[in-house]
Amino acid sequence: MNSLDTYFQSIATECEPSNLYNPIHYILSQDGKRIRPRLVGLSAELFGVEAEEVRHVAAAFEMLHNFTLIHDDIMDEAPIRRGKPTVYKQWNSNIAILAGDALAIMALQELLKAPCDDATKIKISDLFARTSLEICEGQQYDLDFETMEHVSIDDYIKMIRLKTAVMLAGCLKSGALFAHASEADMQAIYDFGINIGIAFQLKDDILDLYSDTQVFGKITGGDIKENKKTYLYLTALQDANDQQRKSLRHYFSSTDFDFESKLLAVKNIYENLQVKEKTEKAIDKYVENALACLHAVSVAEEKKQQLYDLANALVKRDK
Ligand code: IPE
Ligand code: IPE
Ligand code: MG
Ligand code: MG
Ligand code: MG
Repeated sequence: MNSLDTYFQSIATECEPSNLYNPIHYILSQDGKRIRPRLVGLSAELFGVEAEEVRHVAAAFEMLHNFTLIHDDIMDEAPIRRGKPTVYKQWNSNIAILAGDALAIMALQELLKAPCDDATKIKISDLFARTSLEICEGQQYDLDFETMEHVSIDDYIKMIRLKTAVMLAGCLKSGALFAHASEADMQAIYDFGINIGIAFQLKDDILDLYSDTQVFGKITGGDIKENKKTYLYLTALQDANDQQRKSLRHYFSSTDFDFESKLLAVKNIYENLQVKEKTEKAIDKYVENALACLHAVSVAEEKKQQLYDLANALVKRDK
């Protein structure tokens, strides 16, 4: 177990009221990939600061991420995450809302423990607040799109930039802020994060349909069930013939269909139109953009290896 996991094990234990703190302990103790704290640490190291020094910032972002997951699962009616019942399923929605609120506030408390000068702390806190608000904006677009008939691929990219990519970018920029990197480098590392973040969400959309629940830890086809306007759906709609388009619109007009037959019908159309392969091509494009941004950072290339490796691993993942 790494030090972050050990630390999270010690948070919110034996606190009262237990119905507020037990769900927080439950989610923080789970086996997440911990990508966001890794990005904070790797970015700090890239600019000459040890990962250990930014551990509070790293922990704060992982806590913020876990807060978004608690609320996201209510909004998406998702029963399983990380192979376990979601917080609102294990307890109930009211408890999940409040536990999420409390965890977001605990994340801010964690951030304020960062050992840096006040000016840097204000900059990181400002970024943390802006990122949090942008995630809310992205999540609202995600919900709005469920019932909107006309959503463009550009709208979708804007939405996932907000709900997912800004968090990865914010983690990287926070590490850079802590290490007093130059403005140009901070922008480049932020843009690297935006591009890997978009690729990351595209991959999540693929895995939502083409994965094994045992490995991925979430139910298969949840996005189709909830009429999510993913890249897969929008690409299918764009490339469909009249018959396929009619069928897609029909299935995405309600959540009352028998899930298995809806899943089968939509998956069939996706397969006929090769939308998985088209989404993988889009992922490659964003990874390529990301690598160019990382290349532009004015640090010796050999120091960037772990970030290059992470960028490639994020889109090859199966969980
Ligand atoms: C899930 O994030 C939410 C998305 C942005 C797709 P992760 O896939 O990083 O989830 P964990 O923390 O590893 O469970
Ligand atoms: C999640 O998008 C984005 C945030 C949690 C902010 P998803 O709804 O696709 O994430 P998963 O698939 O539930 O993890
Ligand atoms: Mg979700
Ligand atoms: Mg969601
Ligand atoms: Mg998803």
